[in-house]
Amino acid sequence: MNMQTPEAQLIELTPLSLSDADWITQGLSTFDVAGNLTVPYPYSLADAHLWLTGTEFWKHPDNLRLKISHPGEGGIGVVSIRKVENMPTLGYWLSPRFWGRGIMSRAVRDTVARYYRQTVTDIIHSGVFHFNMASLAVQHKIGFMETGRSSIYCPARGGDIEHIDTELTRDAFEAAIQ
Ligand SMILES: CC(C)(COP(=O)(O)OP(=O)(O)OC[C@H]1O[C@@H](n2cnc3c(N)ncnc32)[C@H](O)[C@@H]1OP(=O)(O)O)[C@@H](O)C(=O)NCCC(=O)NCCS
Repeated sequence: MNMQTPEAQLIELTPLSLSDADWITQGLSTFDVAGNLTVPYPYSLADAHLWLTGTEFWKHPDNLRLKISHPGEGGIGVVSIRKVENMPTLGYWLSPRFWGRGIMSRAVRDTVARYYRQTVTDIIHSGVFHFNMASLAVQHKIGFMETGRSSIYCPARGGDIEHIDTELTRDAFEAAIQ
């Protein structure tokens, strides 16, 4: 399943830097984005600086964090795979005006492919809040399977939210992207 929309083919995945703090703050200050994530809310420029400069992220050499760049627009979203309790864990978000154009499907697929190329990892964990069917669709398309349910605190919603836990194996990914 390698279909890409013309616009999704235009995006690039590039390294993040401190100069990305402004658009990250703007994106994560939107309830429609933060309400699907576990980021602080309201999200401040200081939160973005901390996230971008924090050395904690780079303690594990496998960790990968990329900017989704759109030509003429600059940074419009982020994809990351980082060790959480030693498990590689995928997370991502996109600015709302770019939703529904196939951009995250491409960004997530390419980031996972890069991660599998660069590491010996087999299983990548992720998940979505129970109402986030667009995100679940993005994951299903590249082979993620549901493994159970949990409850995760969402600062923007101010409470614990039912979470669909998912995981991907290297074999399932390779089969899905044929
Ligand atoms: C979820 C999110 C990443 C999706 O990004 P996107 O670029 O719009 O996603 P895409 O366009 O690549 O793909 C969305 C898919 O979901 C499907 N979809 C959208 N709404 C859906 C719904 N209500 N039910 C089922 N599928 C749905 C689309 O049809 C599409 O699948 P298709 O390509 O097979 O048709 C984006 O909306 C976002 O950043 N949201 C806020 C943050 C967030 O939710 N992050 C993920 C946390 S788990």
